[in-house]
Amino acid sequence: MAHDAAMPMTFSVTFSWARQLAAVTVAWCALALLPALAAAPFENTIAQRTMACTACHGAQGRAGPDGYYPRLAGKPAGYLYNQLLNFRDGRRHYALMTQLVDPLSDDYLMEIARYFSALDLPYPPPAAPAAAPDVLQRGKALVLQGDPGRRLPACVSCHGQAMTGVTPHVPGLLGLPRDYLNAQLGAWRTGQRRAHAPDCMANIVGQMNDADIHAATSWLAAQPLPASSKPATALPAAPASQAVPACGSATAPRGTRP
Ligand code: HEC
Ligand code: HEC
Repeated sequence: MAHDAAMPMTFSVTFSWARQLAAVTVAWCALALLPALAAAPFENTIAQRTMACTACHGAQGRAGPDGYYPRLAGKPAGYLYNQLLNFRDGRRHYALMTQLVDPLSDDYLMEIARYFSALDLPYPPPAAPAAAPDVLQRGKALVLQGDPGRRLPACVSCHGQAMTGVTPHVPGLLGLPRDYLNAQLGAWRTGQRRAHAPDCMANIVGQMNDADIHAATSWLAAQPLPASSKPATALPAAPASQAVPACGSATAPRGTRP
């Protein structure tokens, strides 16, 4: 990773630990209530039951303030469901989350995923771009056109022309801090983050060098959301010259849909 990206990352992680201690305390208290909900004195709604989650992920899952706790609100339900399975089943690693989702059934995880997905909350304005104009230009080209010479598909061919994601399984790429984008792509590179097979993102990241990642995330993090921030409902038509690799996903639990 370019060294100018390393500084804010270190800062945000250190800062997060202090915040995390407080959040974890709240999370454990809320979680302790989960099995006893029938007898709980407060309303037994999914909003109440996910208080353990929003302690870290911000009110209604709108993201923590520092780029470390990702937004959940409005992301495609199938994507969120896949991530909950990923944490539970060891394809993504964050011990505190894994402990929370470990005892939960597939059905309940889908219910949680659908709840956060249906929330429609405004996004914060994008950060001012920190990278040089030629880097941003390169990032824009990678995201919108890919690099056919290196068989690197355009990010928009899967994440949607408006980059707001595609239901049910592909997340959007806008409204996410650069630190978060860098951390996720870095985690794919080191194998810390995996998706259901075929893990298309692992292949894509494997074809990107540090400069590509820096350019793409710098440009993405500086883009505002379009007027409609909802995910598209179909993948954009791919040009015949650019085959789009397949991506894996979990099957939704019987009787549910993402
Ligand atoms: C102690 C803090 C904490 C708690 C409590 C917590 N999370 Fe997380 N969650 C995180 C962090 C940090 C990440 C990002 C980890 C990474 O970088 O892979 C994350 C990632 C996620 C993701 C993936 C988001 C994405 O866009 O890829 C989902 C979905 C999620 N959490 C849902 C939940 C739900 C549902 C709960 C409650 C049952 C919960 N989390 C509780 C800290 C927490
Ligand atoms: C072949 C389709 C495809 C292409 C092309 C693609 N992606 Fe993805 N991307 C996905 C899928 C599917 C996921 C969800 C993976 C999962 O379930 O964890 C994803 C997830 C991500 C995430 C995680 C988002 C989050 O909220 O945690 C980032 C960041 C990302 N992609 C960036 C990119 C960038 C940058 C490019 C272009 C260089 C790109 N992707 C190209 C399919 C694609």
